[in-house]
Amino acid sequence: MSSDVNDYEPGVLRIFQSKGETKAYYNKIAKVYDLLAERSEQPMREKGLQKLAPRPGEHILEVGFGTGHSLVELARAVGPTGKIFGVDISEEMVTLTSELLQREGLSDRVELICGDAETLPYDDNSLDGVFTSFTFELFDTPEIPQVLAEWKRVLKPRGRLVVVALSKEGKQGITMKAYEWTHKHFPNLMDCRPVFVRRAIEAAGFEIRQVDLEHMWVVVEIVLAVKP
Ligand SMILES: C[S@@+](CC[C@H](N)C(=O)[O-])C[C@H]1O[C@@H](n2cnc3c(N)ncnc32)[C@H](O)[C@@H]1O
Repeated sequence: MSSDVNDYEPGVLRIFQSKGETKAYYNKIAKVYDLLAERSEQPMREKGLQKLAPRPGEHILEVGFGTGHSLVELARAVGPTGKIFGVDISEEMVTLTSELLQREGLSDRVELICGDAETLPYDDNSLDGVFTSFTFELFDTPEIPQVLAEWKRVLKPRGRLVVVALSKEGKQGITMKAYEWTHKHFPNLMDCRPVFVRRAIEAAGFEIRQVDLEHMWVVVEIVLAVKP
């Protein structure tokens, strides 16, 4: 992959790593992921979870759950009558998260699989919500509509989608430019890049309910949408 301009969203960089490389990268950094990212990402994830507003008894999927912090919150929110599903491409993340859920006594209400966000093993119209944080921006540009179509397939009508991701909306400062430069030249160090989150979700046929632009050290878009 070499083009940095595409017909889906002008100016959005492509992803330069294969899925195998992504998997290997997250397997390698799983044990130190929280040290690297938790401080900046945790408050953004919290805002996303608030928008999703999970309720007792619901069935909710998290895609790219990483070290599993949101799964713990989701499992507590849906309670013993609910069910949480998690999909992550990294075996190491699945192992770490299984251990966390066991320690928290929540293993019985969470089903984890090691797999790809683009091909989910769930029935059509079966889930109340899909949540994802800091994972959407790892999908290559042509893959984004396919992933969104798959999430739409598994959501029930009126099912909610919340995406928290690095965004190309709003004022793109020097930090974002440096970030994109690093992604382009050292994709193994900076595996993701900012994308137009709301625009992609809208183009996939979801109804947009709320959009927030937050500032970490780069712009983060938090979008709540529903399946019509
Ligand atoms: C940057 S981490 C974010 C982790 C977590 N959501 C958080 O906010 O802390 C991205 C996660 O997505 C997973 N991932 C990357 N590509 C994926 C794919 N195609 N399908 C499923 N998971 C994927 C990675 O293994 C990793 O755990």
